[in-house]
Amino acid sequence: MTSAHPERNGAESTELLAKYPAASKKMGNVVKFASDNRRPYTPVDSRIIKLSVKDLVIGYLDKQTGNTMVAVDKVTVDIREGEFVTIVGLSGCGKSTFLNSVAGLVKHQQGEIRVNDRIVTGPGRDRSVVFQKASLLPWRKVGRNITYGLELSGMKPAEARIKASHYVNLIRLNGFEDHYPHQLSGGMQQRVNLARALACDPEVLLLDEPFAALDAITRELMQGELLELCEKVGKTVLMVTHQIDEAVLLSDRVIIFSARPAHVLADISIPIPRPRKNHVKDSDQFRELMAQIWSVIEGNANIGGGI
Ligand SMILES: Nc1ncnc2c1ncn2[C@@H]1O[C@H](COP(=O)(O)OP(=O)(O)O)[C@@H](O)[C@H]1O
Ligand SMILES: [Mg+2]
Repeated sequence: MTSAHPERNGAESTELLAKYPAASKKMGNVVKFASDNRRPYTPVDSRIIKLSVKDLVIGYLDKQTGNTMVAVDKVTVDIREGEFVTIVGLSGCGKSTFLNSVAGLVKHQQGEIRVNDRIVTGPGRDRSVVFQKASLLPWRKVGRNITYGLELSGMKPAEARIKASHYVNLIRLNGFEDHYPHQLSGGMQQRVNLARALACDPEVLLLDEPFAALDAITRELMQGELLELCEKVGKTVLMVTHQIDEAVLLSDRVIIFSARPAHVLADISIPIPRPRKNHVKDSDQFRELMAQIWSVIEGNANIGGGI
């Protein structure tokens, strides 16, 4: 496979450590600066591994030149049951490509993805995805959008309605079941999308910038809602975002991708106690974590990733 980008190696991460020793020493929570991105970080944790991605390589073929542009380069990530893990990185670094591959929507060329130890070969009911734009069926009312996935899996409509009503309550959509998507605001539509994804009871919930299309105020509110929701349902979540504050607020771990082709620069634990509320954003701990993550991203951009 030929790459349109120079091969990256561990040297740049070593440079990062040299450049930002204070941040990592002071915080003591950088579980791994990837001096060799081929070596995975394995947390000491007895929870089972729900999602395991090993040495994933994904490239896109340019049909005109015949070259392959490598978007994801040997990424290894393990996520344990109930963990909320977010991937952050510059725009265009390969976050969505990685998430889509875990969803089974984009083929990888090398490596392996496993959910509950089963190899992923395509989309499956063990994973639900929420994209940036709410992908609701415009001709179905809210309630029937939420039951759609359940009905597809063969559940009887009455049973599906009972199951869906649990998530309608959880995400405070009561009273909106008979509205059509176009009658809802963007934030409400994204809540329906979340309810629909959760109603399928996936092993892993995948979120790709779920609030990026919303205005700033709605985004803040939705972050709080998702925080509360995840703490209630205890799902295993993999999210990608370029909003560092969103990542720190919601996550147990933040994984930083390099500029394209993406590899893991750092895997940072977020030791802010739960339950969390939006106002933790005002704390020194939050600000230090933000600075720590930002310094890694900025360092990588200065080294040659580009913004
Ligand atoms: N379907 C595709 N075909 C070809 N190139 C793609 C495709 N999707 C994404 N890319 C390219 O792969 C790189 C990573 O894109 P993406 O994963 O969408 O980045 P991110 O989500 O981090 O912004 C970008 O250079 C983008 O242009
Ligand atoms: Mg993206």
